[in-house]
Amino acid sequence: MKINTAEFIISNSEVAKCPAEFLPEYAFIGRSNVGKSSLINMLTNHKNLAKTSGRPGKTQLINHFKINNNWFLVDLPGYGYAKVSKKTKSVFQQFITDYFETREQLVCAFVLIDIRHEAQNIDIEFMSYMGESEIPFCIIFTKADKISKTKIDSHIAAYKKQMFANNWEEMPHYFVTSATEQTGKDEVLSYIDEVNQEVFKNNSQF
Ligand code: GTP
Ligand code: MG
Repeated sequence: MKINTAEFIISNSEVAKCPAEFLPEYAFIGRSNVGKSSLINMLTNHKNLAKTSGRPGKTQLINHFKINNNWFLVDLPGYGYAKVSKKTKSVFQQFITDYFETREQLVCAFVLIDIRHEAQNIDIEFMSYMGESEIPFCIIFTKADKISKTKIDSHIAAYKKQMFANNWEEMPHYFVTSATEQTGKDEVLSYIDEVNQEVFKNNSQF
């Protein structure tokens, strides 16, 4: 799929204030600093559409970006960022969970995982929550440029093992990406294109 237009629409911390238009949307979630905002820039061919930073905790709101006037990419704050105070953290979590539990336009979430690290409890817990809440999601392994191809394969194999050990019957659909090297872009965009076609055809709400 070719991205012709990508525009920032709105940032907010209330699901009720998210765009009212009924268009399919895809949300990016994962630990702080995993590369959610960078991936959105990579997918849309922009340098600064979504704000990025070397320091965790950059994205603090729900950010809607309208793509090709036809669907949304949604950049979310990260979870697991220890430096945010407990109170702020619970507010974050509340509006993130509100988003996932009430946003009817959400057709698929992408859970981002840094390819360099072993499965972390917080990610496994978050994916279990998504499974229990019946929210469709895929995994996107990020920062693939940081390790060798051999390591990428062994890290994914280890990840699968850990998911099975945590009672997952099958590995969710997954992608391997690098925002700096622009890899994995066609795969993610083709997937979104397929899902868009399916929901436009089969879901009368869209
Ligand atoms: P929060 O908004 O704080 O939750 O972070 P985020 O998940 O949006 O991460 P962000 O895109 O801001 O990137 C965090 C840091 O990782 C930045 O310094 C990026 O340049 C770097 N980064 C992101 N993706 C990649 C990648 O694919 N490869 C490399 N080498 N660095 C990356
Ligand atoms: Mg961000």
